[in-house]
Parts: sequence; C-alpha cells; structure tokens
Amino acid sequence: MRNLSANDGTPIVISGLSHQFGGKRVLEDIHLHVPAGTTLALLGPSGCGKSTLLKLLAGLLQPARGEIHFGPRLMASHSVCILPEQRDIGMVFQDYALWPHMSVAQNVAFPLRMRRVARAERRLRVDNALERVGLAAFAGRKPSELSGGQQQRVALARAIVAEPRVLLFDEPLSNLDRELRETLCGEMARLLRQLSITAVYVTHDRGEAQQLAQHIAHMAQGRIVNYHAT
Ligand SMILES: Nc1ncnc2c1ncn2[C@@H]1O[C@H](COP(=O)(O)OP(=O)(O)OP(=O)(O)O)[C@@H](O)[C@H]1O
Ligand SMILES: [Mg+2]
Repeated sequence: MRNLSANDGTPIVISGLSHQFGGKRVLEDIHLHVPAGTTLALLGPSGCGKSTLLKLLAGLLQPARGEIHFGPRLMASHSVCILPEQRDIGMVFQDYALWPHMSVAQNVAFPLRMRRVARAERRLRVDNALERVGLAAFAGRKPSELSGGQQQRVALARAIVAEPRVLLFDEPLSNLDRELRETLCGEMARLLRQLSITAVYVTHDRGEAQQLAQHIAHMAQGRIVNYHAT
C-alpha cells in the first residue's frame, strides 16, 4: 500500500465523452484533463449532467462514445468498462451512504476488507483516517449516533482509507447547514492538498468550488461551456 501522506496521484483524461439515456442525449462530447494531484470542480444547474459524468468516471455507467483514462490505463469506452472496484477510486455522496448496522470503524474499514488487508494493518489505517477527519474518539459509535456533519466525515474517511488514486465527490456538503458546510469545506480542501489525490468535485456552490478546486468546469445541457483556473 502507498503511504497516505505521499500519494503522487494519477491524471484523468476524458476525451469525446457522450452519454444518453433512452435516446436522450445527456452528455455531449466532453473533453477534460485533470492533472495528477489536482481537484476539478464541476459546476452547473440541476439536470445538466454532472452526476452522470461522475458515474461514468466511477464505472457505474458505460459511455456511449468517447474514452476515460486514469493515467495510461483505459477505464471506459463504448467497448471497455472497468468495474468500479477495480478503478482504485473513493467516492463521497450527498447522502453519506454509510452502513447503519456497522460501527464507524467498521464502515471505514470496509474498503480495506474488500482489498483483503490484514487486520493489524487495517486497524492502523482506520485509526489514521479517522484521525485525519477528527473522529478518532468516535470509532465505536453507530452512524445513527452521529450528526450529519460527523457522518459525512466518516464517509470521507472511508473514501480515503484505501489511498485511492482518484476521489469522486457528488455534492457531499449540500445536506448540511451553511456553517458546517464552510467548516467541512475548509477541512476537505486541506485534506485534498495534503493527500494530493486527483479529485472531481460536483457542486452547485461556486464558493465551494473556488475553495476546493484548482480548476472549474461549468456545464450546461450536457456540455462544458466554460473552463478556468481558480
Ligand atoms: N438513470 C437515468 N435514466 C434516465 N434519465 C436519467 C437517468 N439519470 C439521469 N437522467 C437524466 O439525465 C439528465 C442529467 O442528470 P444528472 O443526474 O447527471 O444531472 P445533475 O447535473 O447531476 O443534476 P442535479 O444537480 O440535480 O443533481 C437529467 O435530465 C436526468 O433526468
Ligand atoms: Mg446530481
């Protein structure tokens, strides 16, 4: 396993990507390059295709046209679709998606168990990830015993614990109140800089995008309409 504090990241290259649902074009000829270790924010109105693009990156959908590479490796095209669990990614969603019957530590350990990491190593890595998100004292609790902000921190710890090459975020802060959103946004920005993982961050919030990302792509009706550095 790589060292949590020294991930060298992997560039993401998206070329000519299109997708449709039942004949309806949802993404049209998307080209994007996310340099290794940087964060790209995807901004745009509801229904413009942000989550669809993220699902294509995650391997939850297969593109109709175009290609996605992580570094030299082809992840997806009309004829190739690497499974999500083989993409070396971590994901954080709006609704946390924690397993309610598992403790905080068990939730965070799950990606390591999937990768058959030995118990002692698992324990060390879970402790480290919980420490990083400020939840070292909460390892034994159930998600139902945590606030929304704490639950999202658990989801974040789970996303980083296996040291993925790519992190994908779909509006992770939008269920939280404004004050908490600002605090967590600052913490995530710091964490992303420390880990230098390549990340794609979907949001409606321009301020969040500016604080977290080095580049912002604005989307409208399935296309990238503007791309700039923060
Ligand atoms: N599984 C699906 N089947 C059919 N249409 C879908 C499916 N998923 C998304 N769509 C449609 O594709 C378009 C883009 O949806 P998407 O979820 O990517 O938007 P979004 O930019 O993430 O919006 P929001 O900001 O509301 O989350 C929308 O018109 C949506 O209705
Ligand atoms: Mg969405």
